[in-house]
Amino acid sequence: MDGTDEDGTGADERPPLEVWESPEGTVRVEIGSDIGWLLFNRPEKRNAMNPALNAEMAQALDLLEGHEGARVVVLTGAGEAWSAGMDLKEYFRDVEASPPHVEIAARRTSAEWQWRRLIHFAKPTIAMVNGWCFGGAFTPLVCCDLAIAAEDAVFGLSEVNWGIPPGGLVSRALAETVPTRDALWFIMTGETFDGRRAAAMRLVNEAVPADRLRARTEEVARLLARHSTRVLRGAKVGFKKARLMSWDEAEDYLYAKLDQTVLGDPEQTKQEGLRQFLDRKTYRPGLGSFDRR
Ligand code: COA
Repeated sequence: MDGTDEDGTGADERPPLEVWESPEGTVRVEIGSDIGWLLFNRPEKRNAMNPALNAEMAQALDLLEGHEGARVVVLTGAGEAWSAGMDLKEYFRDVEASPPHVEIAARRTSAEWQWRRLIHFAKPTIAMVNGWCFGGAFTPLVCCDLAIAAEDAVFGLSEVNWGIPPGGLVSRALAETVPTRDALWFIMTGETFDGRRAAAMRLVNEAVPADRLRARTEEVARLLARHSTRVLRGAKVGFKKARLMSWDEAEDYLYAKLDQTVLGDPEQTKQEGLRQFLDRKTYRPGLGSFDRR
C-alpha cells in the first residue's frame, strides 16, 4: 500500500492514509487512525456494482480483515453516490446474454461480499451513505452493523421502475430493518426517500447534514475502536444470529458465544475491565469503557 496525504495538500495534520486500489480500480481502501475506509470506486457510473466490483470488494474485505490499522470499517462511495445498485448493463443485460453458468457465478460473487462476508464481518462496520442508494445497494447497507446517512442522500427501491421485483436479497434486507408498511410502500411505488426518512424508518441509525457526515461517522467509528474488536465481534454476531433462534437455542448459543469470546482472549479484556473497576476504581462501566492502552 502507498502512503499518501488525504487531500494531497499537506495541510492535514493527521497521519497519512495508507491506500490500496483494486486491480480493476472498482474499489479503493484508505486506512488511517484505526479506520478502514472502503469505497465503491466507480463514481462515473454512480458506483453501480458490476461483476468486477463485486469480486474486488471480497478482496478488499480480506485485506481489511487482516489489517491491524483498521479496527472499524466504513463503507462509503467515491463521488456523489453511495451506490446506484447493481449495474444494469454489466450485471443484468450482459450476464443475461451469457450462458447460464455466468449468471450463477455473478449472483454468487455479489452475494459473497454483499451479505455473507459483510453481515458477520470480524470488525465493526458502518455504512456512510453519502448520496444515491438504490436497489441492490440496500443489501450491503443493511449488512453493515450501523448506518449514517447524509440528510439529503436519496434512496430508492427502483426495481419496479424498470421492470423487476427487488433482486438478490434486497427484500430480505429490508425486512430486517424497516417496518412492513414502509417496505411495501417503497418496494411497490418505486418512489425515492431521503436520509431523514431513512432514519425515521430505522433503515439507518441517523441522518446528519452532508457537511457533517464524515466527522460524525469518524466520531462513531472512534467510539467503536476504543472497544475490543474481539468482544464487539462476539456481541454483534451473537445478536444477529440469536434473534433468529428460539429462546432455548439462543440460551445455549449465546453462552457458547460468550465463552468463545472471553476464554483465550489474548488481551484478557474482561479481566482487565473488572480489575480497573473493582480493584483500582479508575472508571465506572455504566458510564464508559475502561482504559485499554
Ligand atoms: N447501472 C449501470 N449504469 C448506471 C447505473 C446502474 N445502476 N446507475 C448509473 N449508471 C451510469 C449511467 O448509465 C451513466 O453512464 P454513461 O455516463 O455511460 O451514460 C452514468 O452512470 C451516470 O448516470 P446518470 O444517470 O447520468 O447520473 P445522474 O446523476 O443523472 O443520476 C441516478 C443518478 C443514480 C439517479 C441514475 O443514474 C439512476 O437512476 N441509476 C439507476 C438506479 C437504479 O435503478 N438502480 C437499481 C439497480 S438494482
